[in-house]
Amino acid sequence: KFPKKYFSGIQPTGAIHLGNYLGAIVQWVKLQDAGNNLTLSIVDLHSLTIPQKSLELPQKILEMTATLLACGIDPQKTVLFQQSTVPQHTELYWYLGCISTMARLGHLPQFKEKSANLKDIPLGLFTYPVLQAADILAHKATHVPVGEDQLQHLQLSQDLVRMFNSRYGNIFPIPKSLVTETARIRSLREPEKKMSKSDTDSKSCIYLTDTEDSITKKIKKAVTDFTSEVTYDPLNRLGVSNLITIHSALTGKSPEAICKEAKGLNTAKYKDVVAADVNHALAPIRRKLNEYLEDPQYLLDVLNSGKHKAIDITEKTLTEVRYSLGI
Ligand code: ADP
Ligand code: NA
Repeated sequence: KFPKKYFSGIQPTGAIHLGNYLGAIVQWVKLQDAGNNLTLSIVDLHSLTIPQKSLELPQKILEMTATLLACGIDPQKTVLFQQSTVPQHTELYWYLGCISTMARLGHLPQFKEKSANLKDIPLGLFTYPVLQAADILAHKATHVPVGEDQLQHLQLSQDLVRMFNSRYGNIFPIPKSLVTETARIRSLREPEKKMSKSDTDSKSCIYLTDTEDSITKKIKKAVTDFTSEVTYDPLNRLGVSNLITIHSALTGKSPEAICKEAKGLNTAKYKDVVAADVNHALAPIRRKLNEYLEDPQYLLDVLNSGKHKAIDITEKTLTEVRYSLGI
């Protein structure tokens, strides 16, 4: 009875790395291009759970918008908006907060992790997953593409739907998770870790904004092992397998085909091939990204039009919600 609808959010945290691109954005573009109903939110409210430089945030929001467009998100097909411009999200967050419990939120592993080293824990960090639920529910999303680390948060959203629906009527669909098929992309310098923007060593990450030269250098310096052959063994050869994973994701060739082609090359020579292919894949994205960034007014227009679409959709939901709550 609920039409199929995909929803995902991404924080406006500036530079996007290959992990974010292959793990999240590529999947969204595929869903969009397959004709699905997709909504994407640049979740600036979520980013405030840790201190942000207010002077930099407007630019970061534009950069994220430009990045998504450069990667293939089409604002004619996908509803793309900035979370804070749609107050229905925070309103629903309050209603959901009133049926969430401290015990349930306190048990979420990501909260435990993020609060472990803080002396004073912001309330927003604690209630963040409730806002995430509100994002999803306000749009009545049925499917949520997520990384594995977000599965527990999606379970909370599902529980909140069950609770809300049983008390107030069948208003929300239970959102299903859609875990991305792409393998985790690993850090180039410390392949035992995932590629992450919280990594302080920028040589560990390939950013979509990196120059060709910088990408080539980073790949040449990627940590591999003492075996010179190119084999795909993600359990025992983290470094070289990570390069093959990246290479495979960007070219569409299977790891087996890549290893076959690399027969006779040592890992150093193979890195040259990877660097060339990564650059070939990323150059057009970087070019479009820079073009979009030269036209901030266009980006603002895109966000403004997305805002109006998102307000129309979520206000319908909130009208039902307020009525069922008796307010
Ligand atoms: P980061 O870890 O760099 O802070 P986020 O946690 O903001 O990235 O994740 C944004 C999106 O990118 C999520 O969907 C997440 O699953 C995906 N993602 C992040 N890092 C990787 C990675 N190394 N490999 C695959 N996907 C990733
Ligand atoms: Na993260």
